[in-house]
Amino acid sequence: GANLARNFARHGYTVALHNRSVARTDALLEAYGSEGRFIRTESLAELVGALERPRRILVMVQAGAAVDAVIEALVPLLEPGDIIIDGGNSYFQDTRRREAALAEAGLDFVGVGVSGGEEGALNGPSIMPGGPERSYASLGPMLEDIAAKAVDGSPCCAWIGTDGAGHFVKMVHNGIEYADMQVIGEAHELLRSVAGLEPADQAKVFQQWNTTELASYLIEITAHVLGQVDARTQGPLIDVIVDAAGQKGTGRWTVQEALELGSPVTAIAESVFARALSSAEPAMRATAQQVLPSGIGGTTEDVVGDPGFVEDVRKALYASKLVSYAQGLEMLTMAGAEYGWELDLAAIAGLWREGCIIRAQLLEVIMAAYAGENRPLNLLFAEQFVTALEDALPAWRRVVARAVERGIPAPVFASTLNYYDSLRRPRLNAALTQGLRDYFGAHTYRRIDDAEG
Ligand code: 6PG
Repeated sequence: GANLARNFARHGYTVALHNRSVARTDALLEAYGSEGRFIRTESLAELVGALERPRRILVMVQAGAAVDAVIEALVPLLEPGDIIIDGGNSYFQDTRRREAALAEAGLDFVGVGVSGGEEGALNGPSIMPGGPERSYASLGPMLEDIAAKAVDGSPCCAWIGTDGAGHFVKMVHNGIEYADMQVIGEAHELLRSVAGLEPADQAKVFQQWNTTELASYLIEITAHVLGQVDARTQGPLIDVIVDAAGQKGTGRWTVQEALELGSPVTAIAESVFARALSSAEPAMRATAQQVLPSGIGGTTEDVVGDPGFVEDVRKALYASKLVSYAQGLEMLTMAGAEYGWELDLAAIAGLWREGCIIRAQLLEVIMAAYAGENRPLNLLFAEQFVTALEDALPAWRRVVARAVERGIPAPVFASTLNYYDSLRRPRLNAALTQGLRDYFGAHTYRRIDDAEG
């Protein structure tokens, strides 16, 4: 919140500030008050009184009950036409509920997804606003001013759709973020365990990968993290970090919602489960290490130091990433149909190009794929991606096979390849599922020689 306030002030806007703790407001003013025009307020009533109409109030508090509490306190102080903006990672169904409730009071409620962390908030985040379209007329220019700018100069901010659309798109952004980080983690593990590359050498590999079609913020910072030396042990920092991943909920929400929609976002689901498996039951992992056999044959050839294998992993990473983006975008299409949002995938890919955590060169290509008349039914069908997949497939299969042979978990490398193969397979084992369902439950099935079923 503080950094967004500073970002607005740096762009010439007068920003009235309020925090439950006035000391926080004062600390901000003391450190950064000279950056622009701020108005110090000690109460919500004072804040509301300081604003021009229609009032535009950006709320940055923890998702959940805190948002409802702030809304409840604000509403009696506001007048019809005023706008409350929730810039946190709120659950989109909460946003839909709040939007409908506030509309009855004549207030506009705008759920805005904001990505980019603290640094992005200050220097230019990627912004995904939902809510009533008319409120974008008043908010859009301000949000576009403070947003990150893509290479072509356009702001990484665009109206997404009504009610919860902005928060929905931010949720899927985070789901993709989970998958991106998981495939990077799988590549890291394979480079270590199969190619024998120490973290410092891997840092160089990721740095080099960042000059290829994988170029992205997360690949860039992976090189930084792997290159860190721990002050205490003088060894790689990564080796002293406990291997139990946390999560605040947006990835889980993505998967829960995907289940509701019937959208097969396998990469995101595997990533959420990988985090859960890493952290949920440490005692079970410890016992498993003692009692469960590996079944590894030990006959696979050695690839330590083999640059061919490193390149295979790079290609597998790119292919898996493509599939996970395709799945995420397909989920957006399904959600658009379900909730009545006309989601513009080119615009969404466009505003993810800069400012957000998943920012990547690839998004420029994805945006172009959806920009023309011939929008592909699935991202993977775009001509340039068909070519890329054709190039990556032999490497991708080798890497998954190697991981399986060596007993190294690579759930997203494998599940995205399974998704890919399922998609292109002329016949799926679903026929037998149907046969069994009909056998035990008279659920019926359709015949291939009877269009009517
Ligand atoms: C962003 C991040 C941001 C936050 C995530 C982390 O786009 O700026 O995604 O929203 O860092 O909430 O999520 P987890 O704690 O669930 O990994």
